[in-house]
Amino acid sequence: MDRSSGSVDWRLESSGEFSFILLFPLAGDCGNSGNLTATTMSQSIEDLTTLLEGKPEFAVTEPEPGFPVIEVTTPVSAGTVALHGAQVLTWAPTEHPPVLYVSPKAKMVPGQPVRGGVPICWPWFSAHPEDPSKPSHGFARTRFWELLSGDVDGKVVTLVFRLVPDEETKALFSHDFELTATIRMADKLRIGLKMRNTGDDVYKVSSALHTYLSVGHIDRIQLEGVKGSHYIDQLTSAEEEDVYQEKNLQIKGEVDRIYKSMSSVLIRDLDRHRSVFVDKAGSRSTVIWNPWKEKSKSIKDLPDKGYQEFVCVEAANAGTDKPTLSPGSSHTIQTVIGLRPL
Ligand code: BG6
Repeated sequence: MDRSSGSVDWRLESSGEFSFILLFPLAGDCGNSGNLTATTMSQSIEDLTTLLEGKPEFAVTEPEPGFPVIEVTTPVSAGTVALHGAQVLTWAPTEHPPVLYVSPKAKMVPGQPVRGGVPICWPWFSAHPEDPSKPSHGFARTRFWELLSGDVDGKVVTLVFRLVPDEETKALFSHDFELTATIRMADKLRIGLKMRNTGDDVYKVSSALHTYLSVGHIDRIQLEGVKGSHYIDQLTSAEEEDVYQEKNLQIKGEVDRIYKSMSSVLIRDLDRHRSVFVDKAGSRSTVIWNPWKEKSKSIKDLPDKGYQEFVCVEAANAGTDKPTLSPGSSHTIQTVIGLRPL
């Protein structure tokens, strides 16, 4: 893990039965406000602009009608975040090629997932465990979140979003919750998702910070950090059948794996002469996904050869890693993404 940044606050978060080190400070609890989210926007462009107080680090745009995106510029990096899904779409240190991949065929349509950046998957990962008719990866990525704040502290720019239940989420997931997404951009990109049980029953959740990393070419990358871990191969095996990762990973075909790992991952990108690191906390599973040739062709918002340009490395609570949230308790999952020399 990268522990070099002076701005990192190493705190221990006690969250019900789980305790995890936080990679960076998060927004606190926000209380349980009423119905503020829907597949229609809860905040207008004017509301967002007012909330951001005309700070020059922020610009509110609407690349598609009804789909606001906040452009963030820091002295050392730049990125964009959609209100829909509290989804980071782009981010890169200044004068560097993109760190995140966004499909050129991605659609910005309320209620539909956007292919690229960092979708937040919650409260389940992949198909719903009992009801395959429910949306893949839950609903957090297809709802409008509420922007709570946008702050600037030196080179660090922070946006905080919240998602609470409404009638549509209740139909998919009956429990009460409050999600807080803290997105911090500086020389690194930091994303934290705090999930709090605001109800009076106990439930389990899965989640993922589904990071699409842009690479020079899929044939010329190597992933370090999963060697020596066991994984669930989502293409072939049942949850209880572990496979052992003997070597550093090179993607040579379709890969869809849930690694049982708390380690960081380093992607060595030979074409771009750089490495990308994915650090994480509050996560005992790392998902690595690349659809390869045939599946790419079947994904309508991905070009046929799109698989050559990205790999997903996802800080997750997936597979058997499903935190239990008792009433009033919370769990936080975090990821930190940045560049290193090759
Ligand atoms: C990955 C899953 O995280 O996301 C894959 O492991 C899935 O199984 C992929 O295909 C993309 O999912 P979606 O719903 O965004 O197409």
